[in-house]
Amino acid sequence: MTGFEGKTVLVSGASGGIGGATVRQLTAAGAQVIAAGRNEARLDELARATGARPLAFDVTDEASVRGAIEGLDLHGVVNSAGWGGDIETPQDADADVFDRVMAVNARGVLLVTKYASREMVRLGRGGSIVNVSSQASLVALKGHIAYGSSKAAVDNITRVCALELGQYGIRVNAVNPTVVMTPMSAWYWGRPEVGEPFLEQMPLHRWATVEDVAAPIVFLLSDGASMISGVSLPVDGGYTCR
Ligand SMILES: NC(=O)c1ccc[n+]([C@@H]2O[C@H](COP(=O)([O-])OP(=O)(O)OC[C@H]3O[C@@H](n4cnc5c(N)ncnc54)[C@H](OP(=O)(O)O)[C@@H]3O)[C@@H](O)[C@H]2O)c1
Repeated sequence: MTGFEGKTVLVSGASGGIGGATVRQLTAAGAQVIAAGRNEARLDELARATGARPLAFDVTDEASVRGAIEGLDLHGVVNSAGWGGDIETPQDADADVFDRVMAVNARGVLLVTKYASREMVRLGRGGSIVNVSSQASLVALKGHIAYGSSKAAVDNITRVCALELGQYGIRVNAVNPTVVMTPMSAWYWGRPEVGEPFLEQMPLHRWATVEDVAAPIVFLLSDGASMISGVSLPVDGGYTCR
């Protein structure tokens, strides 16, 4: 994909699997990328490999988000920072885990959007924000009471931000991936008794790769998606069409 020359895109979660793949695809497409996360060693390694600029901040800390983002000239944002929490039934749910999952996945997306959208509005050139949600917001998945709730909040943040920021030419969308075998998910979905029945029900019968998820993120950031805003796009091998 081309068309990103001279455009700066901030990617949170860049030290992780999906965010890292997104940074690689965006830099290959000519974008100037700011690769954000907390693990500075991993960000530096990605920066050396791609030419992206590393930027460390914690999405749960408003002062840290503000200090990192204020003054940046941004065209786009990818909110990929996230935490899977624990696998729990509603009757066993740990309220502290729920709070932490919400703080990273939902409140973190809001805080990054809050400060990044101010800069995009200041520049006055429109832009695009893509939030990495999950299939867990679209259908009920056992054990996903906290995580699914946080991603449902991300979908709603996506729609409300699309409504509020459209007047500035800023589009806001989400992608809702199925399982990608990154460390976040492999410990659970990698168990045969969990993974095999799941894949049997999915029309494409395979796990997503990080590239499978990064490509639609890059598309939603691009001018090819110039009339798309407010959607939550399943990237799920057809799992949620059932
Ligand atoms: N893997 C899946 O199966 C799957 C499926 C659907 C949706 N998703 C979503 O996709 C996104 C990326 O997941 P992934 O699979 O790439 O996971 P990952 O490899 O575990 O990466 C998670 C990323 O989030 C960052 N992060 C976590 N807490 C943070 C905080 N407080 N402040 C700043 N950064 C923070 C991590 O940064 P540091 O390591 O530097 O701390 C890391 O870069 C997440 O939102 C996840 O919920 C994943």
